[in-house]
Amino acid sequence: MVYINENYLKLKAGYLFPEIARRVAAFAEAHPEARIIRLGIGDVTEPLPSAIVEAMHQAVAEMGRRETFRGYGPEQGYAFLREAIAEHDFRARGADVAPDEIFVSDGSKCDVGNLLDIFDLANRVAVLDPVYPVYVDTNVMAGRTGPADNDGRYPGLVYLSATAENDFQPDLPSEPVDLIYLCYPNNPTGAVASRETLARWVDFALQTGAVILFDAAYEAYIQEPHLPHSIYEIPQARQVAIELRSFSKNAGFTGVRCAYTVVPHSVFGRTRDGQRVPLHALWTRRHTTKFNGVSYIVQRGAAAAYTPEGKQQIGALIDFYMTNARLLREGLTRLGWQVYGGRNAPYLWLKTPGGMSSWQFFDYLLERAHLVGTPGSGFGAAGEGYFRLSAFNSRENILEAVERLAQLPAETAR
Ligand code: MLT
Repeated sequence: MVYINENYLKLKAGYLFPEIARRVAAFAEAHPEARIIRLGIGDVTEPLPSAIVEAMHQAVAEMGRRETFRGYGPEQGYAFLREAIAEHDFRARGADVAPDEIFVSDGSKCDVGNLLDIFDLANRVAVLDPVYPVYVDTNVMAGRTGPADNDGRYPGLVYLSATAENDFQPDLPSEPVDLIYLCYPNNPTGAVASRETLARWVDFALQTGAVILFDAAYEAYIQEPHLPHSIYEIPQARQVAIELRSFSKNAGFTGVRCAYTVVPHSVFGRTRDGQRVPLHALWTRRHTTKFNGVSYIVQRGAAAAYTPEGKQQIGALIDFYMTNARLLREGLTRLGWQVYGGRNAPYLWLKTPGGMSSWQFFDYLLERAHLVGTPGSGFGAAGEGYFRLSAFNSRENILEAVERLAQLPAETAR
């Protein structure tokens, strides 16, 4: 009989979004007449920009001709894409990232989990709470924690609470940590990090020898020009930070799959006997051993995001979703709800009304308004009493959602 990885038994039964999908499917089956509006998982709804579609068509045609056919590509990604990324996402913002520090992949979620391969189990890990559940669950799977306590927190992880009381900007850890997950613009709260905030984290990492895993999947949604998009806009971040980026939320690639991770040559870890080792070398070894690269067709599509037409079309997509976010925010605020986020991020973070728990409010909204959101407690103990609404939907559905929220009885809704 084979032994299993018992760490999996420490996890909550289901991953958050499949659990929501299960509850919604059960409701839909029981109420076939209900027109459910889904503002739960942050999945894009609008079609791919035409510049990207054309580039992918052309790449398909190349693959169909002997002279231009391609087999295995470079595991780290084609040079045309890595050069475009370095130029447009970093150098154009004054951040120093070289193409050979970029590793193209099939998604940030996968990268988040896979990165743990290169770090010792003894590392102490800090996460913000509420948190994108993948940061936590992958550490549980790896064996870095004990079983969850009654609040769903895992001993072995350091949780840094982000609530309305601290403006969703947690303090620096008061105990030693080695790996720090940061996500800005934040999923789920929609909070953003100023240059000063990021500089504080970078200083902390420099002083303590920690490494920051900086998830910037939502950077394209930043509206305020003074806010940094990349942690590498903070000069010394190149010594302490790995950055994850995705084409999912800007170019609409949730179903296409393409992302990348930046591992600068200047970030080091150490062996237990004190030898310094560049993380770039380890990640190269891991990536080239366990991954065969993203398809040529998809990488051509991703590269088209950086052409003038691609940029213009992506800008229009972001404007569309951010107008949705504004309509939701203004609508809810008018109704007297307490709303955070939604200004530089596609997520709104609400205080649940009437003292309802996050899951009670989930059921209430589904039953009374046929609206789906994400219970804050699904993102961690500090998310209890909060609720996330995503701005990814058609304009018609967003307006209808605001309308339905307005119909809820005032005493329970606000
Ligand atoms: C979310 O809704 O939080 C995201 O869609 C999850 C993800 O990007 O994996």
